[in-house]
Amino acid sequence: MKRSWVVITLLGLLIVSCSDSSVNEENSHEEMAVNTNIDTLNQVDLLPDGFQLLESTCFACHSPNSNNEFNVAPTIATIKTVYLNKFNAEVDFVAAIQSFLANPSNETALMDDAVTLYGLMPQMSLQSSQSKAVALYLYQNNIADAMWYTNEYPKEQERILANSENKSYVDRGFEYAMATKSVLGKNLKGKINSEGTLAAVNFCNLNAVHFTDSMSIEYNAEIKRVSDKPRNANNQANDQELEIIQDFKAQLANGEEIVPITIDEEENVFGYYPIVTNDMCLKCHGDAASIEEETHSKIQLLYPQDKATGYATNQLRGIWVVEMLK
Ligand code: HEC
Ligand code: HEC
Repeated sequence: MKRSWVVITLLGLLIVSCSDSSVNEENSHEEMAVNTNIDTLNQVDLLPDGFQLLESTCFACHSPNSNNEFNVAPTIATIKTVYLNKFNAEVDFVAAIQSFLANPSNETALMDDAVTLYGLMPQMSLQSSQSKAVALYLYQNNIADAMWYTNEYPKEQERILANSENKSYVDRGFEYAMATKSVLGKNLKGKINSEGTLAAVNFCNLNAVHFTDSMSIEYNAEIKRVSDKPRNANNQANDQELEIIQDFKAQLANGEEIVPITIDEEENVFGYYPIVTNDMCLKCHGDAASIEEETHSKIQLLYPQDKATGYATNQLRGIWVVEMLK
């Protein structure tokens, strides 16, 4: 059932949209370093698996192969090298990565050239335990070394595949949603970078719907994005989803970390994960001042009943809903 992300990646290349989301993950990792002073809800020995997160959430855009940069973002090796140059101690390195992941913005970004070249990274809405696990993994493994991709990467893939049977539903749903999101984000980004925001709107309009169907077939899991203020009326949240959206909004308003949930039904388990905005989304979901006029007219033409504007950074844009067969 859970066939590795390669499948999702391939699928994702055929489809596209304008995505974002988030959430919760996984099995504890070997000994994660203990000497960080960043607050997380989880204890260090309960951190999720950093490699697994990178694999499902980051490598679609940040190539794990230092010799092969994708046309949407720097390689993971380049990122590690830049951060390590500036933050040599583990605790500082981890804090810097976590702070960027918590809110990818011009202020938190170190790599100004990459921001200019590719545009800002979309918000991936990791929980702090997840971003910490990722940062520690980057620091503690020689991922910037050219040989890592050849020697270690395949072994790591095997390792997580072997572990995948004992995964909880909330983790499994997270993985499906994040894999979808990162691939969608990659495609959206590629389109914006090569042809501009206007073309990207068309692109989303034509392709956003197809992916749920493909994902359902591949995973026995249906994946969709819904909102209380949808652009596409088909993405209107139902009553139960609206309640969850309200809960997530309240958590965000209280400055808490949004905690994804699952709801267990007779034959299915539903997983719900937040979709939070960052600056990158405002080009198409912001207020009138942040959306270019041409883009705005195009959106109105395609979606006369559009409700999905007026957002600022770090607001709840909607949720991922992942329906898994038991
Ligand atoms: C949809 C594509 C995409 C995905 C998925 C993605 N990134 Fe990025 N990321 C980018 C782009 C584009 C940049 C360069 C622009 C920037 O710095 O914001 C970037 C930059 C970064 C940077 C450097 C930021 C700076 O400028 O200081 C870090 C660190 C980073 N990403 C980590 C991650 C991690 C960890 C994940 C997975 C949890 C991830 N990214 C997932 C597109 C992506
Ligand atoms: C290039 C313009 C563009 C950008 C940038 C963009 N979106 Fe969208 N977004 C769209 C369009 C168009 C749709 C409607 C797609 C459809 O018809 O299903 C959409 C739909 C969505 C939906 C589904 C619910 C709905 O309103 O129909 C979510 C959730 C969403 N976007 C979140 C985001 C987030 C989060 C970001 C930033 C990380 C973002 N989008 C960036 C254009 C964009």
